[in-house]
Amino acid sequence: MPHPLEQLREDALREIESASDEHALEAARVKYLGRSGTISAWGEQMKTLSKEEKPVVGKLLNEVRTAVSAAIESQTGKFRSQKESGALARIDVSLPGTPREIGALHPLTQMWERSIEIFRRMGFALADGPDIEDEWHCFDALNTPPDHPARNEQDTFYLPDGRLLRTHTSTVQIRTMQGAKPPIRVISPGAAYRRDELDATHSPQFHQIEGLYVDENVSVADLKGTLEFFMRELFGADTAVQFRPHFFPFTEPSLEVYVKSKALKGGERWIEVAGSGVVHPAVFEQVNKARDDKAYDPEKWSGFAFGLGMDRLAMILFDIPDIRYFSQNDLRFLGQFG
Ligand code: DAH
Repeated sequence: MPHPLEQLREDALREIESASDEHALEAARVKYLGRSGTISAWGEQMKTLSKEEKPVVGKLLNEVRTAVSAAIESQTGKFRSQKESGALARIDVSLPGTPREIGALHPLTQMWERSIEIFRRMGFALADGPDIEDEWHCFDALNTPPDHPARNEQDTFYLPDGRLLRTHTSTVQIRTMQGAKPPIRVISPGAAYRRDELDATHSPQFHQIEGLYVDENVSVADLKGTLEFFMRELFGADTAVQFRPHFFPFTEPSLEVYVKSKALKGGERWIEVAGSGVVHPAVFEQVNKARDDKAYDPEKWSGFAFGLGMDRLAMILFDIPDIRYFSQNDLRFLGQFG
């Protein structure tokens, strides 16, 4: 006569096998394996068995428990895959997929990133300043007198309260020196604004990278070395760099920077890329006055500064025919620079 446990196993397996859905299966699980289920009850009864019976029944009980658990698991799997294939059957695999749009960085951002990476290697940190500025940061502190044409209503966007959209990123030079003592080595990428008719090559909003280096015994040679290294890293080793005398109120001497490189229009002509110069002592004095100390003593500290124009360079490097594309947010344009 078979042991009652064997009968139990047979009943359990049949019941599990014929369970029509997950609820029926769960009911079977509780009936056999639940805390007050039949198999658990047998476990309790083990205590009452004789020494001889215990190992035999114990072994059988284990086998039964394992078999029932395995059957429940396999049946659960069966229900799950039935459910999934049911869901899949409702999907029309012949429909076209949803294309994923892949974004690209704006060409100006790409220029900035390449440039920042080069200056970082030379130890320049990033500095920042607001686009909406006051006249003092934009002009007075930069030694630009009240009658200077750049301050003209026709050239600069003024807000009703007297503030303005910065006409260059040189404002960040002043803000940086107000906030920290020398030595200083920073660059600051950002937008600048001037009243300009919008056409293919002019825009009232343009983009620059400002640079400021202040230390002891800084000379024009440091300025030239830094900018030459930068231009060659950006445009290739064959790049020629030329410094031409110029005038900026906030530097003395002042130099315009020109480059000629195969990377730029095949190297046929000199292209103006930056304004630069040795920081004018009057700028340090303005900063000292605002700081109310002598941190930027022009007898001890000297520096150079530069402002690199980004828009024209990006237009040449990426072969962009019209500056207006930069600000039109047209995905057909932006998608080309991935
Ligand atoms: N701010 C000048 C401009 O926008 C460019 C410039 C010239 C920046 C000389 C400088 C500098 O830092 O030293 O035209």
